[in-house]
Amino acid sequence: MWPKTGFLWLLLIAAITAKMAAAAEGAEPNSLEDIMRRLGQLVDRADEDSDGMLTLSELKEWIGRISRRYIENDVSRLWKALNPENNDTIHWDVYQETIYGHGAFNDVQFYHKSLINRDRRRWKAADTGRDESLNRDEFTAFLHFEDHPAMREVVLQEIFDDLDRDRDGKISLPEYLFDMYQPQSPAMEPPEWVANERDVFLKFLDQDGDGLLNEAEVRQWIAPHGLGLTDSEAQHLLLEADANGDAKLTKKEVLTKINAFLNSPATEFGHALFRHDEL
Ligand SMILES: *[C@@H]1O[C@H](CO)[C@@H](O)[C@H](O)[C@H]1NC(C)=O
Repeated sequence: MWPKTGFLWLLLIAAITAKMAAAAEGAEPNSLEDIMRRLGQLVDRADEDSDGMLTLSELKEWIGRISRRYIENDVSRLWKALNPENNDTIHWDVYQETIYGHGAFNDVQFYHKSLINRDRRRWKAADTGRDESLNRDEFTAFLHFEDHPAMREVVLQEIFDDLDRDRDGKISLPEYLFDMYQPQSPAMEPPEWVANERDVFLKFLDQDGDGLLNEAEVRQWIAPHGLGLTDSEAQHLLLEADANGDAKLTKKEVLTKINAFLNSPATEFGHALFRHDEL
């Protein structure tokens, strides 16, 4: 699972901005055929040995490459927006005011409060210089914890804050799924990808098989050398799309599950399809 927890909301805004920019340039794919053609090109690029199949490791490489590119672009964009004078650092006060503004206390402010607290905690974790200001490297860690050990603890805490609804220090399967999917009515049959997420939880994340993720298992999940977000996303896509169960994906299998790929960091949630440098 790619955590859809609240702390990624800022990135979402950045992604929407990017989408608008791409639409303005006329670069947005405009038909299903076009989207499939572009996705097919991404598959070709990911198929490093050109054998017509994507292995798990080629899938991981693919997702890793797109994610790194996304992080670079995302940090550049926000850095410029927050810091047009390109100072060496951005102060917390400037960040908070630019992102959240100030105004009368209202519902929006109330909602912002928890986001601000969350950002504040992350900011402090990223602020290795302890000067309330983040330089570009620190700011990268603030936005994207993936490769930053200093951020591990705060991310762990955010995951438990978000997912561990009964506060027992463990994440159960229903808690894990609740973050992603809430049926409109109890009688509703959950979509197929929910079953796949269940498999990821049971087969890969819950290593001791007790039906709960304890702290060590969550650490393993978010660790770059453990299963990791990229790896669990690769596993997820493989489970979802591997129609004949040979642990490899053909282009046809990918294109059959186009939605799974468009809702994935593998395509930067679709955006990588209209960035020429990716194709
Ligand atoms: C950049 O520096 C100027 C002058 O010191 C300051 O007024 C401005 O707030 C700074 N910008 C940021 C983003 O910190």
